[in-house]
Amino acid sequence: MVDERDHDTSSSSLPSLTKQLADTTLGGSADVPVVDLSVSDEGFLVREVVKASEEWGVFQVVNHGIPTEQMQQLQVAGKQFFDLPETEKDAVAKEEDFEGYKRKYLGGINNWDEHLFHRLSPPSIINYKYWPKNPPQYREVTEEYTKHMKRLTEKILGWLSEGLGLPRVALTQSMGGDTAEYVLRINFYPPTQHSELTIGAAAHSDMGAIALLVPSEVPGLQAFKDEQWFDLNYVNSAVVVIIGDQLMRMTNGRFKNVFHRAKTDRERLRISWPVFVAPRDDMSVGPLPELTGDENPPKFETLIYKDYIDQKIKGWALEDLPVY
Ligand code: OGA
Ligand code: NI
Repeated sequence: MVDERDHDTSSSSLPSLTKQLADTTLGGSADVPVVDLSVSDEGFLVREVVKASEEWGVFQVVNHGIPTEQMQQLQVAGKQFFDLPETEKDAVAKEEDFEGYKRKYLGGINNWDEHLFHRLSPPSIINYKYWPKNPPQYREVTEEYTKHMKRLTEKILGWLSEGLGLPRVALTQSMGGDTAEYVLRINFYPPTQHSELTIGAAAHSDMGAIALLVPSEVPGLQAFKDEQWFDLNYVNSAVVVIIGDQLMRMTNGRFKNVFHRAKTDRERLRISWPVFVAPRDDMSVGPLPELTGDENPPKFETLIYKDYIDQKIKGWALEDLPVY
């Protein structure tokens, strides 16, 4: 697991600058799907999440079973951490690895990057030295939240598997079952005067399999579909589900690894809490044999996840080369 957004994903390194700055005329004709998980017709639910993953690669879920106070406690703890003086936040500063707290002036259109990043699960890979000691409830709240996140992720992967005609555990197992890595990133986007020009998170697709994100109430997340950027409307207590590169590859392109970005707000601070779920670095990931055949040959190479990451990062670096 690496922090892909630690690498320069700013405008120049992305496939197309047009995409990055594509005018923000938003398609008003469609909204990012919202799926109510409390409906009793499971078949309906399966169809909804599959359709959203195929058409958008992103959707929001409500009535997902994570208690609201649990989400609020996570948000309060995160906010309290970011409100600390810099010297205190530096107690968990990033070193060589991707975990820890970092703030960096990037310049250009995404001019500020401040975040905390650390592993959540499995327990054997947790480095508590990167978990803030202040506020004191941080660890307990985050551990409790992790349990809910795992449960919800596995439920969603179960429905997606079923919708693909596979056993419920298929997608979870294909990313290593209990060895799959869960990592939390808290993104901190202070207000910026030129918010129309300032990207909080540059356009990207997530490298892992799936991410479950909780935003603060300030809108900013946008998804790219049909050559347009769409705002994700803030829905109280919703969890945003983002399909990443590996689910796209496993499903042989049937699910979309949504291109997304986050804008900053002119006046208000915005914070987001994505939990990224990815296979272990040494897992082989590619189109599932059950989903490919003569009619539908594999569109992607099966790769060790670490090699996939290296290739993706190298691709960005190559795109940084001047064009003659
Ligand atoms: C990310 C991401 C969006 C947001 O961290 O990968 O897409 O709303 N964040 O902060
Ligand atoms: Ni992302």
